[in-house]
Amino acid sequence: MTTETRKILVTSALPYANGPIHLGHMLEYIQTDIWVRFQKMRGHDCTYVCADDAHGTAIMLKAEQLGRTPEEQIAQVQEEHERDFAGFNVGFDNYYSTHSEENRAFSNLIYKRNKDKGYIVSREITQLYDPEKGMFLADRFVKGTCPKCGAEDQYGDNCEVCGATYSASELKNPKSTLSGAEPVEKENTQLFFDLPQFQGMLEEWTRSGRLQEGIANKLGEWLEAGLQQWDISREAPYFGFEIPDEPGKYFYVWLDAPIGYMASFQKLCDRRDDLNFDDYWGKDSSTELYHFIGKDIINFHGLFWPAMLTGAEFRTPTAIYSHGFVTVNGNKMSKSRGTFIKAETYLRHLNPEYLRYYFAAKLGNKIDDIDLNLEDFAQRVNSDLVNKLVNIASRCAGFISKRFEGKLADDIEDKSLIETFIAKGDEIAELYENREFSRVSREVMALADLANQYIDEKAPWVLAKQEGKEHEVQQVCSLGINLYRILILYLQPVLPNLAAASADFLNVAPLQWSDLPNILQGHSINKFKALLQRVEMAKIEKMVEESKEEAAAENAPKPTGPLADEPIADVISFDDFVKVDLRVAKIVDAQHVKGADKLLQLTLDLGGETRNVFAGIKSAYQPEDLVGRLTVMVANLAPRKMKFGMYEGMVAAAGPGGKDIWLLSPDSGAQPGMRIK
Ligand code: MSP
Ligand code: ZN
Repeated sequence: MTTETRKILVTSALPYANGPIHLGHMLEYIQTDIWVRFQKMRGHDCTYVCADDAHGTAIMLKAEQLGRTPEEQIAQVQEEHERDFAGFNVGFDNYYSTHSEENRAFSNLIYKRNKDKGYIVSREITQLYDPEKGMFLADRFVKGTCPKCGAEDQYGDNCEVCGATYSASELKNPKSTLSGAEPVEKENTQLFFDLPQFQGMLEEWTRSGRLQEGIANKLGEWLEAGLQQWDISREAPYFGFEIPDEPGKYFYVWLDAPIGYMASFQKLCDRRDDLNFDDYWGKDSSTELYHFIGKDIINFHGLFWPAMLTGAEFRTPTAIYSHGFVTVNGNKMSKSRGTFIKAETYLRHLNPEYLRYYFAAKLGNKIDDIDLNLEDFAQRVNSDLVNKLVNIASRCAGFISKRFEGKLADDIEDKSLIETFIAKGDEIAELYENREFSRVSREVMALADLANQYIDEKAPWVLAKQEGKEHEVQQVCSLGINLYRILILYLQPVLPNLAAASADFLNVAPLQWSDLPNILQGHSINKFKALLQRVEMAKIEKMVEESKEEAAAENAPKPTGPLADEPIADVISFDDFVKVDLRVAKIVDAQHVKGADKLLQLTLDLGGETRNVFAGIKSAYQPEDLVGRLTVMVANLAPRKMKFGMYEGMVAAAGPGGKDIWLLSPDSGAQPGMRIK
């Protein structure tokens, strides 16, 4: 056991800013947070940073789909992510975004240093090109039929139906999502990080004890097969950082994502005098740096990242700790089964500490997947935390407060059990250090069993009824309370809320590992309040039900037009409603649409600006009757390419259909462009 204060920097992977945090993600943030809290309790200088991963095509498209700018999208998502992490008590020292000036500066610096050393090369490659828009297409801008399973309407990088990954040029019937045109192949210059130059360095690095064995072996296979140059540039339009001296080219999201660890730390250094960037990232740094990640992103962290850092003369990580994937009830998380559970949904129903404990009880330091079996979850939490752990305090506290005015015995005469508990400290600390959290929970529960056995044997409730046993009652209960304090100290990294509430009850300062031998004697404690409720299966069922509904609402078919004879659509929030910009529009042109039997093409004047829309109102109007009339339109709908052309808005009309479809009355007095409130 080292007594020296270590300087440790810890990160978790940066979650993408295109979706909510779910319980699968939470495994990682809970695992990391437990480890960080443990290090802090031990008195080390441990710093934990993270950020949202804000760049890339997926985020750009998501923003577009929601009618937002990418900046609005990532700001909104970051707020939600931070809220969810706080809800689970994940204690980042700083949470930032990869879309930051610090990150731009570090990305440019790392790129430039690598380039100066000859590690960046440019090469001609064949890429899909949209001849109508005159631009190269990122994989996500190409859709077509999956070459593997034949599913239609799949993106150019992977199939959401069968999970196959491929390159965009392998798609059948490819179409540009920007224009609908068939893409052509064209030569283009791209920038590559010359990974093969790091072959020797990486062979050594991956075998230097920084990776779990299974991971080192996996990377070993890739190294043996030979490394490829890594394409680090993407064509505009792309949401990211433009590459210096390469107008129109952007850093691929995975180039600047891990650099976000540095940017977030730099931001923290700016407000903390005790932290110095170079101490932690300098080439000869003697501090420790750990990345916690999922097993799916090991190539980025175990190959590209150490190579890029080395090329740019920064230190490499001390170790990379990967974990497996969360399954729920034995299966991949599933939206239809309601087991794709968002952090937010969980928190509406259940105490975050239940999940922290359950994950801890299942986590080792290997990369096995972790199953969240919901029945086992309820049973485990109830039996370990409520029936065993908290029970110790609740069985002893009443006697102390009622009979001894809240005061523990002045001298606990038989300390042997306390000593047994304290003696476990080094072993438990070692287990934490090695991320063997499941073994921590087993050890602590074995001690809790001993404590309960002791109380059962002494039966203070029986002694309390016997004459002359007052002193013994106080001795037994004081001992019980002391045992409880030790158990809570051991579990504090896992259960920070319960530990804080327990410290209040015990009337002690927040616990540090060094408090372990401080036996409470002649000490007043506070009145015991229920510290933890039982998990109710009904609440879990409700959470699953709600997750199903949320998923169904996301996938609900959108009403197809003003005449859609459908029940009132899903409830939308007030916030969503106020985003809808309804305007009065004047129909300045109306045309039949070739091949469409319900649609008319309308040109709308919004008081200066014109928009092209399609409306299913042919059954009620002749085009010539419409010109000059007023209608209501949704003016801020993201433009969408449909079968017959671009929709640049939606027209609102009322009525059951057929001949009965009404627009605004011609003499309503409304003016084009007027906002409807
Ligand atoms: N943005 C990248 C990471 C960049 S790090 C420089 C990314 N984001 S993610 O949102 O997809 O995932 C964030 C972390 O959560 C990853 O480490 C990933 O492995 C982990 N998990 C995502 N789903 C998970 C499960 N179902 N189970 C366990 N971990 C999961 O990857
Ligand atoms: Zn497929």
